[in-house]
Amino acid sequence: MTENAIGIFDSGLGGLTAVKELVKLLPNENVIYFGDTARVPYGNRSKRTIIRYAEQDADFLLSRGVKMIIAACGTVSSVAVNLKDELPVPFTGVVAPTAYAAAHATKSGRIGVIGTSATVNSGSYKNELLRLDSSFSVFQQDCPLFVSLVENSFISADDDIVKMVVERYLKGLKEQNIDTLILGCTHFPIIAQAISNYLEGRVTLIDSGKETALYAVKLLEKHKLFNRSEQPGSCRYYVSDTVEDFRRTAEIFLGKNVGNEVSHINLEHAFVH
Ligand code: DGL
Repeated sequence: MTENAIGIFDSGLGGLTAVKELVKLLPNENVIYFGDTARVPYGNRSKRTIIRYAEQDADFLLSRGVKMIIAACGTVSSVAVNLKDELPVPFTGVVAPTAYAAAHATKSGRIGVIGTSATVNSGSYKNELLRLDSSFSVFQQDCPLFVSLVENSFISADDDIVKMVVERYLKGLKEQNIDTLILGCTHFPIIAQAISNYLEGRVTLIDSGKETALYAVKLLEKHKLFNRSEQPGSCRYYVSDTVEDFRRTAEIFLGKNVGNEVSHINLEHAFVH
């Protein structure tokens, strides 16, 4: 069992922010990633649809024999809150580990949260922050276009379109004098530089992919699931749309060629609930 892979899923590329960190922390672990690129974005869909997609994504990973599942997606973590109870393996989403990190990073207690519309409407991060400390002031903003920017490789901090969208969404938060900002969608760390530039480097950015990977290490330890093999682990990527676009952006983001490690999977046919 311990040699089985860790399963990570997201609606698209965003979950790679968790993969990147996890592989750094645990180079001997095998990883299976699923990006539901045919159905991205999730963040403006109904609760019912997001829950159905999340169940299908998890079922696919389970069919590959994973020993643990990470929903590296702020939207799924915020909306499909009962998924954890339906799974036969340990599970984590991104909300709790990320809120915990933000609560420890803030000095002024003024925390911003950005995410998809579904995430912000759920109030998931805000509720978790206020549960940790009810004196926090939490300011939320949904930024749905960030997901499209990332999925379409508009990720450079020098790109005028990226700068314009960042300013449009973050102006209000900047005016609130936040000292910490939760990048509550796993796509967002990919444009962290543009976000940081706009906030003039004065705000601590909390990367939901990274914090979740850090928490996943603790979860593996708790369940005694560390892979004891000395061999370097493997990464396999599955996507529900064409592999070419994923390959290109994944390579820019992960800094390595993922050529033969990416395959297409038709999820609708394989696992319709
Ligand atoms: N990366 C996802 C998230 O963390 C989903 C973005 C989307 O599909 O809308 O919310």
